[in-house]
Amino acid sequence: MEVKNKIALVTGGANGIGFAYVRELLKNGAAHVALLDLANSNGDESARKLNDEFGADRALFIVCDVTKSADFEAAFAKTVKEFGGLDIVINNAGIMDDARWELEIAINFTAVVRGTMLGFQYMGKDKGHKGGVIVNISSVAGLVAAPTFPVYIATKHAVVGLTRSFGLPYHFDRTGVRVVSMCPFFTNTQLITACVGRTLDTVEQNFIDKSFSTFPLQTPESVAEGVLHIIRVGNNGSTWVVENGEPAYEVELADEPVKKVSA
Ligand SMILES: NC(=O)c1ccc[n+]([C@@H]2O[C@H](COP(=O)([O-])OP(=O)(O)OC[C@H]3O[C@@H](n4cnc5c(N)ncnc54)[C@H](O)[C@@H]3O)[C@@H](O)[C@H]2O)c1
Repeated sequence: MEVKNKIALVTGGANGIGFAYVRELLKNGAAHVALLDLANSNGDESARKLNDEFGADRALFIVCDVTKSADFEAAFAKTVKEFGGLDIVINNAGIMDDARWELEIAINFTAVVRGTMLGFQYMGKDKGHKGGVIVNISSVAGLVAAPTFPVYIATKHAVVGLTRSFGLPYHFDRTGVRVVSMCPFFTNTQLITACVGRTLDTVEQNFIDKSFSTFPLQTPESVAEGVLHIIRVGNNGSTWVVENGEPAYEVELADEPVKKVSA
């Protein structure tokens, strides 16, 4: 799908990589983008900056806590009412905070389930719409195991499984909605740079600092370029990575248990 003249919705769009997605969409000619984010996210200022750069009413900030189902559905309805349709949904809002792991699961996984289902509801051909694309934001943490943030890592694995399963032809044939996931590697936002105090109390901060210091941080803009690429060409159900600021690449995941190791 080309993004020119399309209407998009990005959760967690006021800051960090989410803001870069919104900006990249507008830069590539999206007609309008709704930024859904928390009331204290400075979203008004983010939307103002984008409207100064790209023209009036291109970006709209909608206060929405994605863990609140009524807020979330109302934000989809408002986007469609304001802009006359919806073509692209990016389920991006996320935290890395194992110290608050129940909230982390609610934001990183439950809300991605809800955002995917709302995407089908508001874009699906079976509901009288035109079809569209849903990008679910996982992480390289969704593809590998690591001892640092076990619950965060599990939520990101769940996003990959959800996307691959909703990304099978059974759903597309009904809805005309493609579902793809993006797994960024370490990226320069507060999620990484301000993670002190966000671990389980069984994981030492020294250990986190040491592990994280070995990874270079890429820019949010390089991830956003990758997401634009997969909106354009990503096959339904596909899983993509952006690392070291390089172009996005697709990864192949096994449909069967990889290897039997014991009887
Ligand atoms: N930074 C990285 O290295 C990295 C790597 C891989 C994946 N990711 C994923 O990318 C996404 C964005 O992360 P980021 O690094 O930009 O983080 P960030 O903290 O800079 O931005 C996250 C945004 O989500 C919003 N948000 C948090 N809780 C919310 C809620 N309940 N409802 C609505 N919005 C909420 C925040 O207000 C913020 O604007 C997350 O899903 C994260 O897991 C980040």
